[in-house]
Order: sequence, then C-alpha cells, then structure tokens
Amino acid sequence: MEPDSSSPPPPSPEHILQVGLGFWASKTLLSAVEMEVFTELAKHPEDLGAVTGRLGLHPRGARDFLDALVSLGFLVRDEHGRYANTPETELFLDKRKPSYMGGILEMANHRLYPFWGSLTTALRTGEQQNEAKAGDDMFAKLYADPAKLKEFLRAMSGVSRGANMAIARKFDWSGYESFVDAGTAQGDLALQIALANPHLQGIGFDLPEVGPIFEDYIVANGVADRVSFTGGNFFEDPLPKADVVLFGHILHDWDLEQKKHLLRMAHDALPEGGAVIVYDAIIDDERKENAFGLLMSLNMLVETQGGFDYTGADCRGWMEEAGFRETRVEHLVGPDSMVIGIK
Ligand SMILES: C[S@@+](CC[C@H](N)C(=O)[O-])C[C@H]1O[C@@H](n2cnc3c(N)ncnc32)[C@H](O)[C@@H]1O
Repeated sequence: MEPDSSSPPPPSPEHILQVGLGFWASKTLLSAVEMEVFTELAKHPEDLGAVTGRLGLHPRGARDFLDALVSLGFLVRDEHGRYANTPETELFLDKRKPSYMGGILEMANHRLYPFWGSLTTALRTGEQQNEAKAGDDMFAKLYADPAKLKEFLRAMSGVSRGANMAIARKFDWSGYESFVDAGTAQGDLALQIALANPHLQGIGFDLPEVGPIFEDYIVANGVADRVSFTGGNFFEDPLPKADVVLFGHILHDWDLEQKKHLLRMAHDALPEGGAVIVYDAIIDDERKENAFGLLMSLNMLVETQGGFDYTGADCRGWMEEAGFRETRVEHLVGPDSMVIGIK
C-alpha cells in the first residue's frame, strides 16, 4: 500500500539524540577555544602533524578532534590536508583580534559546563550550583578572585556585543544627552552607544572592583573623554542621574523584589520623559518559542540565588508598577530583545 502523503511522517528519534548528546559538540568547541586552535590557525593553515605538535595534542585523538571541528563547521581542510579557520571562527575566535568573542566560551568551559552537571540538584532544591553554593552573592564570590573577575567581565562583552551594537543604533538617541549603563561590566554597551552617538555622555555604573577593568577598556577604545565610571552598589546607592538608564543582562540575575527595586531606582534617576532600557533574552509571552531565553533562565537557577528570565509582558508590568507611563518591547538580535519604558 502507498504511504498516505497527507499523514505526518512517523516519529523519529533524531532530534532527541541530537539534543541529548549535544554536549559532545559543545565540549569539542569549548576545548578547541581553551587550546586556542583558532588563534593558532589564524596565523596560517597547518597540517595534522603541525597542529598536533603546536597544540600539544596526543596523536590518538588529534585527527578525530580536528575533523570533528571540520564536520561541525568550525574549520575547513583543503586538498593538501591543511586545516584552516572558517570566516566565522577566523573573525570571532582568534584571540588576537578585537572581534574575539570567545570570552563567554572560556567561561562556559571553566564554570558553566561543570556547574550544569548539577542541574538536577538545582531543579530539586532550587539552590544555585556554582562557587556560591552556600547562598552568598555570586558576584562577591566571583570577584574575590581577580582572574575570574576579568574572565567574567570579558565574557560579558563577548556575549553582549551584538545586542549592544543594536541598542546603539536602533534606539532613537536624538532627544537625549546622557546615559548610565547600570551593571556595565567591561563597558561594552557604553562603548557601543558612545561610538555610534557622538553627542552623548555616558557613565558605566558597577561594583568598585570593576572600575580598573572598565577604564582600561574605555581608554583602549578611545572614548574616555565621554564615558566614565562610577563605582557603587545598586541595592545600596542611588543610580547616577541621566536621561537614559540601561540594564543589560541585569534584571535576570535577581529575584522579583530586587527586579522591581532596580526599576524604581531607574525611575528615580530619570527626568520626566527619560527612558529605561532593559535587555535580556526576553522570553516570548506564550513561553513556547525562545528556547535560549528559557535555558538562560535555568542558567540563572544554577548561577544565582533568586534570578530568573521573564517575558516582555512581565517586564512591562513591572515598569508600569514603577511608574513608567509608556512601555514597549523591541527585538534586538538573536534571542535578545529590549523593553523600553518612558517616564
Ligand atoms: C550579568 S553581568 C551583565 C554585564 C553587562 N551589562 C552585559 O550585559 O554584558 C552583571 C553585572 O552586574 C554587576 N553587579 C552585580 N551586582 C551589582 C551591584 N550590587 N551593584 C552594581 N553592579 C552590580 C556585575 O558586576 C556585572 O558586571
């Protein structure tokens, strides 16, 4: 009998296996970043023997490792057996280029990959599973170690750059003169806004430990005449006054009361007509589509005491409660959207 073409295809295990064993591909890429495969190959293409020697690989796994990276689309191999980067890995994973965005993958490799091994415990207990397991503030714990502090702040720039550039261009900055980026980390959002909008003056606000790393980055990128740092704690100190207050990947770190507190602080810092811009991997209102946003929320379960990601409707509701009169959601790039509130 002919199969009925109108009936759906029979169930296949393919998707289940692909996701279930997805960590194979993920860890292969993370180890490649850790061993600087892409930085090495950005110097020039190399054959198996040369890459094996330069990276200190054991011959047993070397060929499979490199060919797995070829088959995953992160390397190419020519007819002479020489390995080279793809245009994407050449641009984004060569450590010597300013466009390097491997910081987030370095942190994923060192921290998130082992912590996610305890996801089931987090789901059963509701408790974070990182360095701060005892329940203390994740940032205090992380920032006690200068190497981790730097790795975390650089990781933030890597993961946020696309959205930062989109905010710098998509938001209509023409009616505003100043901004404060609250929880600025290395300062990439402040930098991108300043580069795209020469009329603006900006402040990066973050815990005092972050100051030197922010300042190095801002000076190196040539906007120190318009962008400065203010150290403080946004649960204890008022935010500096400005026409626009931004929270990039901040609200999802905190519980509901803390989220609402931050929006009230933004409201206090703004003049009438001023804007708050919140951005995260905002979950779709139906909570069905933005898998990255939902997984990010599980990442907050693993990483923080009370943090969670949220929908655009959730955030608009909190903004309205804080006194913002007009609110809207605008897509940025990939899974990220911004929620804008006008005072
Ligand atoms: C998830 S990172 C986001 C960084 C950056 N906005 C981005 O989107 O890439 C959170 C930032 O909040 C800062 N932060 C944490 N607790 C803070 C506090 N109590 N006061 C001020 N900043 C804080 C951290 O230092 C860190 O830079």
